[in-house]
Amino acid sequence: MCGIFGCILKNGNAAPVIHAALKRLEYRGYDSVGEATISNGKLFIKKDQGKIDDVHKARNLDDLPGSIGIGHTRWATHGAPLEINAHPHVDCHGQIAVIHNGIIENYADLKQELENRGHVFKSKTDTEVIAHLIERALEAFPPPSLADAVLETVKKLDGSYSIAVISTKEPDKIICARHESPLVIGVNENAIYFASDIPAFLPLTNKAVIVDDGEIVTLSLKGFEIRKIADSSMVSREPKLIDWAPEMAVKQGYPYFMLKEIHEQPACLRNTLRLQEHYLDLMATFLDRAREVYLVACGTSYHACLASSYMFSKLAFLATYPVIASEFVEQHGKSVNIDSTILAVSQSGETADTLASVNVARQRAATVLGLTNTIGSTLTRVSRVYIGQQSGPEIGVAATKTFTSQLSVMSQLALRLAKKRGKVSQDEMDYLAEKLNKLPETVETILRTQEEKAKQIAKKYKDAKVFFFLGRGISTATAYEGRLKLMEIAYVPAIAFPAGESKHGPISLVEPGFPVVFICPKDDTHKTLIGNIMEMKARGASIIAVVEEGDEEIKNLAEDFFEVPKGVPEVLSPVPFITPLQLLAYYMAIEKGFNPDTPRNLAKSVTVK
Ligand code: F6R
Repeated sequence: MCGIFGCILKNGNAAPVIHAALKRLEYRGYDSVGEATISNGKLFIKKDQGKIDDVHKARNLDDLPGSIGIGHTRWATHGAPLEINAHPHVDCHGQIAVIHNGIIENYADLKQELENRGHVFKSKTDTEVIAHLIERALEAFPPPSLADAVLETVKKLDGSYSIAVISTKEPDKIICARHESPLVIGVNENAIYFASDIPAFLPLTNKAVIVDDGEIVTLSLKGFEIRKIADSSMVSREPKLIDWAPEMAVKQGYPYFMLKEIHEQPACLRNTLRLQEHYLDLMATFLDRAREVYLVACGTSYHACLASSYMFSKLAFLATYPVIASEFVEQHGKSVNIDSTILAVSQSGETADTLASVNVARQRAATVLGLTNTIGSTLTRVSRVYIGQQSGPEIGVAATKTFTSQLSVMSQLALRLAKKRGKVSQDEMDYLAEKLNKLPETVETILRTQEEKAKQIAKKYKDAKVFFFLGRGISTATAYEGRLKLMEIAYVPAIAFPAGESKHGPISLVEPGFPVVFICPKDDTHKTLIGNIMEMKARGASIIAVVEEGDEEIKNLAEDFFEVPKGVPEVLSPVPFITPLQLLAYYMAIEKGFNPDTPRNLAKSVTVK
């Protein structure tokens, strides 16, 4: 997730306007920043790694000349956060500048083709191919317009993008295009703007036009012209008046970042489906070779590891050890060795306990692999291979979208490993891949149908003194995560156990009205889980069940239930089954009057041991 913005002004310089707008988009990414403007037929660029304020201090982003320009604040996906990889990117002759938010899946093939034709690349990004493709398109005779060259280019791109292009060939225009990444236009009588999000231009205008997927837009001082990418047909659309307060706008109309991030999960899951196969394969190869595999993480990331250990075992027949990072050194520090592989999972890539485990593992010559949301973090620097999960910045302290994305990446790894080891049939692989591809849609359905229910259930149980969360098999991880969410933001003491273990002690807590959340996918554990529900009911517990749609048997036993769509395979079930529990925790916090984004005593990145 990156932030893009650009403008054409009737009067004055574009650069300071772009700089101020990028500051308002900084929540979308902040590892590098760059601007390009055109003045007197020449392209001017400033860019560097680092936060906007730091780059501005060192380079003065405001003194670029010209009344037309584009700017980008980056959250690295391809290529480390270095100056060379910061946007804008240019063609071979420095006449075309491109900024991009999204992921171009087929960039490696496109790059190879362009290099074979003599194009010289400077960065490691996927974006740079766009500038070179436009350059090529413009070489045709008779030369197309800039808009048509961009149109021809975007038809070659697979993946997600919102892009903006300026060129000295048509110095009074900006061409934008969108597919699965956000793009909006802002208009007033003195200027025209585009941005990833409305907040970028809200102080400048409240008249916005939302660009849809599959559309290309030409901006000039005359206004905007929208066409469909597929057939070049014109689209007419009137600006809408936006009445958001500025602080609401940053959250795109959501009252808190946490809710916004819960709702971003379908888009983030789609991003995980666009990861480069090469890295997944490489990681699967390392896992395959290891004598023992430790999955090391803290908090929510540890729960992703716990769930993953079931995936690796069930799909690839690989035993892995999920370990809480703060215990890793004590528990395994002496036994880890050259034949061990440590897969460290950390959203921030900076968690001190996780890094301490990685350090010990490295000292003992073990192989370190990383999964993180932060390219350029310490974890990416110390890992032999790492995967960036591409969820965009998560601002709410409680991890939500990064958790479900971690699960999606780990399930893809488990599937690759299973294939490598010949442990699943092609039919089963195809079936699981199809279900994995459907996860974003499944989560969309849950968000659409279960949010009201979460509000009602939160209202009903807001005064509960304690909660139980129980699940069997892979749903144990879901239970742990549901409990952590509720505890950390709504401050409700909660206990989670594998359901089978609850009768070995914890059940003594139960008295009439005690809320017990059961995670109930229709997998092999379903029957036994019903027994556990009965045990709790017999002691007067109030059952809140998360069930598959149409699971009448458990619905009849539960006081309250959430329903998730049918047919999600067991190994993928933590993604849909945690979603209603994230909403429940969120609305419990709201009911109790707490700010879910900034729970007391917690920090987003825990850099102390
Ligand atoms: C809980 C939460 C924390 C983090 C933990 C690890 O909602 O966010 O438990 O999961 O601090 O953080 P990372 O993944 O950055 O290593």
